[in-house]
Amino acid sequence: MTKKDPMDLRSARWFAPDDLRSFGHRSRMMQLGYSDEDYIGKPLIGVLNTWSELNTCHSHFKERVQDVKRGVAQAGGFAVEMPSLSVDESFTKPTSMLYRNMLAMETEEMIRSHPLDGVVLMGGCDKTTPGLVMGAISAGVPMIYLPAGPMLRGNYAGKILGSGSDAWKYWDERRAGNISDAEWLGVQGGIARSAGTCMTMGTASTMTAIADAMGLTLPGASSIPAVDSNHQRMSAACGRRIVEMVWEDLTPDQIVTDAACRNAAIVAMATGCSTNAVVHLIAMARRAGVNLTLDDLDELGRTTPLIANVRPSGKDYLMEDFYYAGGLRALMKQLEDRMDCSALTVTGKSMGENLEGAVVYNDDVIRPLSNPVYHEGSLAVLKGNLCPSGAVIKPAACDPKYHVHEGPALVFDSYPEMKAAIDDETLDVSPDHVLVLRNAGPQGGPGFPEWGMLPIPKALIKQGHRDMLRISDARMSGTSYGACVLHVSPESYVGGPLALLKTGDIVRLDLPNRSLDMLVDKAELEARRAALTPPEPRFERGYGYMFSKHVTQADQGCDFDFLQSDFGKPAGEPDI
Ligand code: FES
Ligand code: MG
Repeated sequence: MTKKDPMDLRSARWFAPDDLRSFGHRSRMMQLGYSDEDYIGKPLIGVLNTWSELNTCHSHFKERVQDVKRGVAQAGGFAVEMPSLSVDESFTKPTSMLYRNMLAMETEEMIRSHPLDGVVLMGGCDKTTPGLVMGAISAGVPMIYLPAGPMLRGNYAGKILGSGSDAWKYWDERRAGNISDAEWLGVQGGIARSAGTCMTMGTASTMTAIADAMGLTLPGASSIPAVDSNHQRMSAACGRRIVEMVWEDLTPDQIVTDAACRNAAIVAMATGCSTNAVVHLIAMARRAGVNLTLDDLDELGRTTPLIANVRPSGKDYLMEDFYYAGGLRALMKQLEDRMDCSALTVTGKSMGENLEGAVVYNDDVIRPLSNPVYHEGSLAVLKGNLCPSGAVIKPAACDPKYHVHEGPALVFDSYPEMKAAIDDETLDVSPDHVLVLRNAGPQGGPGFPEWGMLPIPKALIKQGHRDMLRISDARMSGTSYGACVLHVSPESYVGGPLALLKTGDIVRLDLPNRSLDMLVDKAELEARRAALTPPEPRFERGYGYMFSKHVTQADQGCDFDFLQSDFGKPAGEPDI
């Protein structure tokens, strides 16, 4: 590939001309203490860092950014750190999902408005991966994704703890009165004990795996634990590589193609795939003009074996084990015949070339296709009179006895209403009941909260029940499990048929046939629709107002309509 002329660098438009504006830009670089030798004629690399003291998963990014800058300098570039919205999963309320699109907008506009030739995107905690990638795809300058990496395994009293999954599990035991306060405190201190993202195959690990499989990270980077020194070396390598990418003009549109999105979906299914990945993957693909649909994902869910034996879909292991077993490159090596290995990646090489020499070191963690954890079933898409635009379920994470189930609905209109009833030990509920929560979707939640793993009623917990069929228009955490139907679209808040369901109606799930219906006749449903009153608006000003006006439904990826690639003319380069 012929190297670009330094005068053709995007940043040269800011710095090269002999005019008053460029004088201003150069004098401000001098204000920062830089001489011409530092940056003129060099690729200017923005390091978009989602570090924050309230993002516990990215706490190492404060130091890690120095490794990136070291790499950029080594390769003859000039790096600037740009703090970016840190959408963290734990503290952001009402839900981090409300702010994914805000990060995407910020990323796109920050890149567009500044003299950047390329960017390194530092993210990892759930929404940061799609947010950063969506924005950078739309901005269109060369970019490389630097995943935060998973935290170390949890540990308490000699037991290994997994993020999320074990919190729910021990919480149920506590509600049942089976563990003491001291034990509960021990779990609290042991479940998140290092920097890094949740170390189950939750949303964070699924999303960074997706970025890896799309060809947006250095090969296998997503599996490296956050605190492993390999992570520092990978970060420096990202810095070196982005400089080369600028010279090669390797822009995201060459990488995020149909083939890359399909590869990402296959890998997501093989890893056990957080249900959240569905929404983000569709949104990311659409930014690149790739029309990936729920039906495509259902087809891949049916045909892709789950081979990562990592919790919560797998039984035994966590991300640290996955890395030692060979990591994502080794997993993708198993899928080589199913993936399009000609897809171009950030290395400038094809996916197939990146996978050369990848080896599985523990075939109980990364299973061969001949011995999968499940033959199919990371994800299934349901349709029916309850969810005409679709709903999702994770068959592998629920008790098979619920795969075909008919039972009476127990409907809640809000989370507080549900919570109060669930804890009432006199609640009239049987294991056959179908718990339903509505008004929890993208607009109704608001922001599409992770409420979908509705708690099992206390009365049933005490009888020893740990699963039951649950339906909502909410999402659930990637570390959750159980017979939970999620993302019912259209959501009830905007008048989806879930709004018409009443307590006592019979609901039928038929997973093998991918259907979800309420057994209520048409005339009755029409009468209920006529009596429906529209809900109060959730927001009357601010970001939430914009969100509610423009967010799309779950099956469309929940991007803002005006940010999708087919909405209007691209913004183009700014006047300088
Ligand atoms: Fe950040 Fe789970 S809370 S990845
Ligand atoms: Mg999560």
